[in-house]
Amino acid sequence: MEQMEWKTRRKIMSERKLHIKTWGCQMNVYDSNKMADVLAPVGYRLTDDPAAADMIILNTCHIREKATDKVFSELGRLREIKDARAAQGQKMLLAVAGCVAQAEGEFIIERAPYVDMVFGPQTYHLLPEMVLDALGDDAKRKRVVNTDFPTEAKFDFLPAAQSPDGPSAFLAIQEGCDKFCTFCVVPYTRGAEFSRPVSAILDEARNLRDQGACEITLLGQNVNAYHGAGPNGRTVGLGALIAAVAEIEGISRVRYMTSHPKDMDQNLIDAHRDIDKLMPYLHLPIQSGSDEILEKMNRKHTAAHYLDIVAALRKARPDIALSTDFIVGFPGESEAHFEESLALIREAGFASSFSFKYSPRPGTPAANMPGLLREDVKSERLQRLQDLLYSQHIAFNASCVGKTMPVLFDRPGKGQDEELHGRTAYNQSIHVKGKPRLIGQILPVEITGAFPNSLAGKLETGEYMAA
Ligand code: 5AD
Ligand code: SF4
Repeated sequence: MEQMEWKTRRKIMSERKLHIKTWGCQMNVYDSNKMADVLAPVGYRLTDDPAAADMIILNTCHIREKATDKVFSELGRLREIKDARAAQGQKMLLAVAGCVAQAEGEFIIERAPYVDMVFGPQTYHLLPEMVLDALGDDAKRKRVVNTDFPTEAKFDFLPAAQSPDGPSAFLAIQEGCDKFCTFCVVPYTRGAEFSRPVSAILDEARNLRDQGACEITLLGQNVNAYHGAGPNGRTVGLGALIAAVAEIEGISRVRYMTSHPKDMDQNLIDAHRDIDKLMPYLHLPIQSGSDEILEKMNRKHTAAHYLDIVAALRKARPDIALSTDFIVGFPGESEAHFEESLALIREAGFASSFSFKYSPRPGTPAANMPGLLREDVKSERLQRLQDLLYSQHIAFNASCVGKTMPVLFDRPGKGQDEELHGRTAYNQSIHVKGKPRLIGQILPVEITGAFPNSLAGKLETGEYMAA
């Protein structure tokens, strides 16, 4: 990438306002933060208010149903703001980023010509140049559509984190996916698997630590496929990378997501046994409990293989809790296949989960498979599956009551005075009375109550009272 002249950057703007609306996964949240970081040096400051913005970016997700429709209906609303600003002689840029941008490209501008920029996840480091093109002088102003997969790694051009959002930070270590599950758009929208080098990751982790983060979640679409270049040119897997991150002084907790069962190698399982800072909580999507459906999904593993991994993880780290993803109503799923999913849930036991009705994604192999299910059948199965998963989730939260657990306090609570919000090792939200100065600390908390979406707890009186 050519470095942009400082004068050119100045020309873009002195202080302008940027609003980013983010859909989808943690990777999109991370990307939105990076976009804000890239645009900060050219004068854009974040605002929560779209009506006050000089530029609005919709960072979109294409993974499930109606993503494109949602983007267009949001664009319709924002067009009114843009027109109102134009009537006052002010220019507002409207941009679509993320996986819908990658998948739909030019089509977005065709259908919504008032959109100024459409750009995919591999191009965020080029944002200042793209903004300049889109702003242009009126005669030269052009619409920007950039859905390239450049050969250079965008990570090399993204700035170091400006400021993590509290003591818990995300760090992208890989992007893209080579698994090609037949229902999934990610290999098409995010491209081939790419792992960042170890040194770049450790630099970013130290940087986050210096800015106040003590918990780091390593992110990637298929995070445990990580195989980055290490010192001496050797390839390093996720287990060894976690060990290196955990060695950084000041980093107290490490997490990673999202993983594929096929890539749960022994080193990574051993990391759960050997590294105390690695939290005893793992998101490991299975999608279905039926081998026939798993095969049609091209998941490359069986239900038994998944259960073996769960057993190995529990042996390595007996207090580990699991979360997962399920898809119900995949083409050809019979009642018997579905019941195999219920059986697997009973056997594995999940503390938490996400589950979805299958939705055909254009361009994916499953979209052309025979055996589509009726919507009401899918809904009914989803309900039964979620009832079971919900009962396990409630039981897990209830089992925490009476225990004392370390809690990382990450922000003030929304409710009463002197209430803090924190996270347990299992990433449960917890509300505890405590002084604001405790934010950023990890302290033992006795769990006193369990609710569907959070826990309640209390600190030792001394901790609460101390000024
Ligand atoms: N239909 C329904 N759910 C899907 N997911 C991915 N693609 C689809 C689809 N086409 C779900 C999977 C994945 C999660 C992020 O989204 O469960 O793990
Ligand atoms: Fe999509 Fe995950 Fe399968 Fe990759 S491993 S294709 S990201 S579901």
